[in-house]
Amino acid sequence: MTRRSPLFVGNWKMNKNASQTRSFVESFLPLAENLPTNVGIAIAPPFTALAAAAAALHSGSRVALAAQTMSEFAEGAYTGEIAASMLAEFNVAYVILGHSERRFYQHESDATIGAKVRAALDAEITPILAVGESLEVREAGNAVAHVLTQIQAATGELTDAQAARIVLAYEPIWAIGTGKNCDRDRAQEIAHAARSARRAFADIPILYGGSMKPENAAGYMEMPDIDGGLVGGASLEAHSFAGLIAGAIAR
Ligand code: PGA
Repeated sequence: MTRRSPLFVGNWKMNKNASQTRSFVESFLPLAENLPTNVGIAIAPPFTALAAAAAALHSGSRVALAAQTMSEFAEGAYTGEIAASMLAEFNVAYVILGHSERRFYQHESDATIGAKVRAALDAEITPILAVGESLEVREAGNAVAHVLTQIQAATGELTDAQAARIVLAYEPIWAIGTGKNCDRDRAQEIAHAARSARRAFADIPILYGGSMKPENAAGYMEMPDIDGGLVGGASLEAHSFAGLIAGAIAR
């Protein structure tokens, strides 16, 4: 696998308890085993289902584990928070950081997200940095500038070696969970601008997210700077997620 091998990450958000997670993995693993080995696949269950997922995904499995967020701190008096080292105990390979739902509901700032990105890298967990503009920003013609500002704010303090280890996810807010996916040329425009923003980003995987479905995934994969998907709704059912991945890489 190269760094830009296809990568699909299922972001389950606040869905599935531990037993539902076990059932998903039981159905999904045999389907995933049939997918080409150069395709990276991860699921991001809620924290309370990570242990069940880790146990069900036997070691050496095709499917990696991701977390949906984590603390920027290593340990201490941060009630309700989860540290990178706690995720590492369950072999969590990726952590989604800066998702628009966390920026909105938990008021996560660019500075906090940047600190989380650094903490993840220090713990050898690959950060999936999510960025994206609102409909208002897009309609004002400022989408590219907005996304580049978010990326700079969260990664500006990284060394080139660290910057080369991240994954980026472009998720226009107006496309998340709405069924209104972003035109693939517009998504490519943002992905290209992001990749060009820093030499260290030349080989990072850039994912598209926002109503990615089995019907539209292949179209994004044809875009030169898009390497995969961060998939919400369509990742909650095993056949849907496996079908999306199979369709995306078929062409
Ligand atoms: P969606 O969510 O696929 O349900 O639009 C994507 C995401 O928020 O990561």
